[in-house]
Amino acid sequence: MRILAIETSCDETSIAVIEGDGERVKPVTFVVRTQIETHQAFGGVVPEVAAREHLAHLLFMFREHVDPKGRDIDVIAVTAGPGLAPALRVGVEVAKTLAWTWQKPLVPVCHLEGHIYASWLTDGAVPQFPALALIVSGGHTELVLMQEHGKFTRLGETIDDAAGEAFDKVAKMLGLGYPGGPAVARLAEQGNPKAFDFPRAMLDKGLDFSFAGVKTSVLYLLREQESRLSDAQFRADVAASFQEAVVDVLLRKTAKALAVHAPVSMVLAGGVAANVELRKRFQALGEEKGVAVFVPALTYALDNAAMIGAAGYFRALRGDTVNPLQLQADSNMDIV
Ligand code: KG4
Ligand code: ZN
Repeated sequence: MRILAIETSCDETSIAVIEGDGERVKPVTFVVRTQIETHQAFGGVVPEVAAREHLAHLLFMFREHVDPKGRDIDVIAVTAGPGLAPALRVGVEVAKTLAWTWQKPLVPVCHLEGHIYASWLTDGAVPQFPALALIVSGGHTELVLMQEHGKFTRLGETIDDAAGEAFDKVAKMLGLGYPGGPAVARLAEQGNPKAFDFPRAMLDKGLDFSFAGVKTSVLYLLREQESRLSDAQFRADVAASFQEAVVDVLLRKTAKALAVHAPVSMVLAGGVAANVELRKRFQALGEEKGVAVFVPALTYALDNAAMIGAAGYFRALRGDTVNPLQLQADSNMDIV
């Protein structure tokens, strides 16, 4: 089965054609174009500008990479949410139009489910169920138990900021601009993670997260020690200690979820899965607990259509299709 997938939820425009066969998925075509340069001038993503660029980029991508009659495509999958409403709408409307014109089934995909399926985009082993997924993106931080394809239970989530959002805000405080996560991670490489003891919130409160406190602590420290902001070592120490606090909480909550739910696999998902320190520690935790670990290839960690195609394939196998005339983008869509 061949799936044409479209992703436009934030600031990456992406299309992919995925070949699915049994439990395996394989990208046949894969294109991503980032809008980072456009949004850098604004210090963050501007939804209406993102939407306009998605539309322009999609048309070129289709012209270059997709048969105009869709002859080799069996199903169309699209990110229906969550994300920026104007941005999502572009992908959804293009997908609806193609599905109707080509008379192909249309499968809406939750962006967060897509992030989990990034771990299926491999020639090696794929996750087995039950699988515990740690979703860490710019808008979400969730621990989710996946009992089987498409069947999820949320175990915990952030009560305020998402982990990626905290990275982005701390980057701004340090004058690192957008996108913040990779910049903080790079700076942290030169710093001492033990230099500052930032708070680890809600460790004894189940499986929910809170990252507003650590972010505010960084803000207060930078205000108190403003004169040191030009000191490169100080800045690196702040970045490293902040990253350490966030990764520490993510890992401790994941360990707790492993102890309670005893999954056979654990899956790291979302843009923050590109963080090298988090990848290393997530891997080490799985090895220590004897649980099979899946960390997405860097190409598929950030927003992309290949992961949406992978999730869409398993949805299509279950006949999870919608009427193209009725699908609406849903910026608040969630995985459960
Ligand atoms: O999944 P994603 O690409 O978009 C959303 O669905 O939100 O995630 C983007 C988030 C941003 O907050 C970005 O700063 C963060 O992922 N991120 C990172 C790294 N690379 C991206 N955070 C920490 N370290 C990184 N290396
Ligand atoms: Zn994402």
